[in-house]
Amino acid sequence: MAIRLGDTVPNFTQQSTEGEINFHDWAGDSWVILFSHPADFTPVCTTELGTVARLKSEFDRRNVKAIALSVDNVDSHNRWVGDIEETQGVNLNYPILADADRSVSGLYDMIHPEASATATVRSVFIIDPKKKLRLTLTYPASTGRNFDEILRVIDSLQLTEHHSVATPANWKNGDDCVILPGIQDPEELAAKFPKGFSVVRPYLRLTPQPNLEN
Ligand code: BEZ
Repeated sequence: MAIRLGDTVPNFTQQSTEGEINFHDWAGDSWVILFSHPADFTPVCTTELGTVARLKSEFDRRNVKAIALSVDNVDSHNRWVGDIEETQGVNLNYPILADADRSVSGLYDMIHPEASATATVRSVFIIDPKKKLRLTLTYPASTGRNFDEILRVIDSLQLTEHHSVATPANWKNGDDCVILPGIQDPEELAAKFPKGFSVVRPYLRLTPQPNLEN
């Protein structure tokens, strides 16, 4: 059955380029981005894995751990890692799950048979520190993902979590945010939004991004 937003994500134990991983233990108190790709030694995947490695400091800053998956084995992954490092100019600084028995792919519904009977699609799962699923994305094999967008979603999720705001269409870091509709008490509004807010409509209230200095 599909895993839905808000569900506790299933745990698993699987081999990886960093040894055997018990997923929930490995995740610990971090946010996680778990992303699958179709196969080793493929062009789009090579660029994606390099891109995620280059973004490590951005993921660290947000308390996010990255973990990739494809259905090849550890030996194949390790040979491919050499290629990624050479062609993308970066050390691979996160594990790749070796899901040769497809147990994790099955658990997370990453194989879509009408797209490919054997390869995983480009799935993304963003999971919070309580192991709840907060976002899923599914891209076709031929389209590389935009990891800047994934960072933007993580920023939005963390603003909602810690500052009671949502983010409007095309929001980017520094733009005004939307006060969650459930917050109506004037004292709570004053305490949570000391920078003030504008009321466009009673249900649409904008406030400067709360976690910035000014
Ligand atoms: C890939 O790099 O994974 C890929 C590229 C083109 C079509 C399908 C997959």
